[in-house]
Amino acid sequence: MRITMIGSGYVGLVSGACFADFGHQVTCVDKDDSKIAALDAGRMPIYEPGLDQLVANNVAAGRLTFTTDLAAGVAGADAVFIAVGTPSRRGDGHADLSYVYAATEEIARAATGPLVVVTKSTVPVGTGDRVEEILRERRPDIDFAVVSNPEFLREGAAIGDFKRPDRIVVGTDDPRAREVMGEIYRPLYLGESPILFTGRRTSELTKYAANAFLATKITFINEMANLCEAVGADVKDVARGIGLDNRIGRKFLHAGPGYGGSCFPKDTLALLKTAEDYDAPVHVVEAVVKVNDARKRAMGRKVLAQLGEEPRGKTAAILGLTFKPNTDDMRDAPSIAIVQSLVDAGVTVKAYDPEGMEAARSVMPASMTYCSGPYEAAEGADVVVIVTEWDAFRALDLQRLKSTMAAPVLVDLRNIYDREDVERIGFHYTGVGR
Ligand code: UDX
Repeated sequence: MRITMIGSGYVGLVSGACFADFGHQVTCVDKDDSKIAALDAGRMPIYEPGLDQLVANNVAAGRLTFTTDLAAGVAGADAVFIAVGTPSRRGDGHADLSYVYAATEEIARAATGPLVVVTKSTVPVGTGDRVEEILRERRPDIDFAVVSNPEFLREGAAIGDFKRPDRIVVGTDDPRAREVMGEIYRPLYLGESPILFTGRRTSELTKYAANAFLATKITFINEMANLCEAVGADVKDVARGIGLDNRIGRKFLHAGPGYGGSCFPKDTLALLKTAEDYDAPVHVVEAVVKVNDARKRAMGRKVLAQLGEEPRGKTAAILGLTFKPNTDDMRDAPSIAIVQSLVDAGVTVKAYDPEGMEAARSVMPASMTYCSGPYEAAEGADVVVIVTEWDAFRALDLQRLKSTMAAPVLVDLRNIYDREDVERIGFHYTGVGR
């Protein structure tokens, strides 16, 4: 199959490289010529484990190319995927679809023959209808089929998620489009990942429903963590105790500082907007959004509480800034609210993150100091706070950490340490929900 990806960002690049690895002929298009030049030179615009090698292999095999020329990419393609950004629109939380529609206009201009157009970007219900309308209006001479095919990739694990998905959702009623999509994903469903054909609107909503459900699961266990603290229970055991029930499932039950990232915050808001537009409220998700926002700030207060009556003038070491490990992504990271509340209270903040420090500079208070490792960050600190559970923080030399600190206090917002182990070394330990 000849596949063209419009948008070589996170989703477009990972999907394009994986499709090429299946043996398809893939062209990745992007407007940003510096991004395309970097990709041509083998430099990745994002940090994703394994992506550079996957791209290099498929470029070398002649199956993957990059271009800024959308028209050349679209001409002769069997399927064109739209994988451009759909950020939250400032002010109202609606998904901003201007990039999607701009890409649609360009595809209409460039199409040379029958074409399957696929929205891979996360788009609100009804976007596919509008994309189809635009294509048909502009080019009545061309036979278009518009498909919704949402991605379910986790940052840091995107290649594995793409190649071994729990399911592939394809939303279209068009028999030819089904055939083309079936052919594109054949290597996967032959490998047992089920492919689920649905209507287009159903597929669009499925993506939002999945993310909203996962955000709900996290928020539920986070509130249980608060309750555990109040009643003297351990949320890790509660999570295990409920998660072993297959109807509930063990994943996404880790209590922490609240969810962040490029998807959950944006997609839950967009779902609420859709619910409002159609006058079919989703109260559970409304509560989730509110509770999660409040939680990030509450985590700042949790750290401050460990600094005594007068936190002003004290020092906090923050380990981990990104919204989760194995990414350099700082979007909606809980660390932002936590650091802000510490700085507001007059606390000096030193931080270390294995990949996120570059991106952090534009969103963190200017007074925060960046360190070259966890031990440097801990030097002279009155508290060490684990905000992101990078593997590099799971086996710290606690003796060494303690010896450099002004006071041996550890706040573990990801519950990656056991209280007894840490207390034995002489630390004061605070986890989440235990
Ligand atoms: C998510 C979805 O998992 C993915 O399917 C979708 O396509 C995009 O959004 P991602 O944002 O990369 O992926 O990260 P994910 O691993 O899902 O984590 C999201 C947030 O939830 C992080 O802030 C993480 O720390 C938090 N989280 C996750 C928890 O606090 N507890 C958990 O148990 C799981």
